[in-house]
Amino acid sequence: ENLKIAIVVGSLRKESFNRHLANAIIQLAPTGVQFTFAEIGGLPLYNQDEDDHQAESVKKFKAQISTVDGVLFVTPEYNRSIPGVLKNALDHGSRPYGQNVWGKIPAAIIGISPSPVGTALAQQHLRGVLAALDMPTLAQPEMFLQMKEGFFEASGAISEASQQFVKGWLDRFLVWVTLNKKRA
Ligand code: FNR
Repeated sequence: ENLKIAIVVGSLRKESFNRHLANAIIQLAPTGVQFTFAEIGGLPLYNQDEDDHQAESVKKFKAQISTVDGVLFVTPEYNRSIPGVLKNALDHGSRPYGQNVWGKIPAAIIGISPSPVGTALAQQHLRGVLAALDMPTLAQPEMFLQMKEGFFEASGAISEASQQFVKGWLDRFLVWVTLNKKRA
């Protein structure tokens, strides 16, 4: 089955480990699954005064999200929560009132951090936000990855030690999207 999935990376850092992770996951995907990045770095700071004349960048972002079957959030943890830039994008997509673009789109959350407990708390916070946005979010399996020397190979691929684990997670996510795809 053909699936279109948007990836939202919660870091704007050029060499972001989470973006590397997203790229590596795209390489693991079976044919028929089309990933696109939904970039959040060009969005203005959300201001409710702009709701009835949203910026072009916001309209474009929302239009992109409206065409996908699923959304994969790949995010770092900042101070035990999600980065503000990610929350900003989520808020933009949720407005104006009644025009929440996220609603009913199946989602999942993953992340990587140099810290051994990294991203668990950010993921938990993000679950609460996605519930408010009405996104059915994959509960299990969870995936908390630690960035260590050798996690990525020089090619950018996930090293053999972790690749099966990540692939297994991805298979479960794709089943989740297939089962929960928004019906017209
Ligand atoms: C961090 N980092 C971090 N890591 C973590 O596991 N838990 C945390 O609460 C925090 N807090 C935090 C706050 C801020 C403001 C920064 C800049 C960083 C470290 C973080 O995991 C590390 O910088 C990663 O490299 C960020 O992910 P990307 O940008 O590599 O994808």
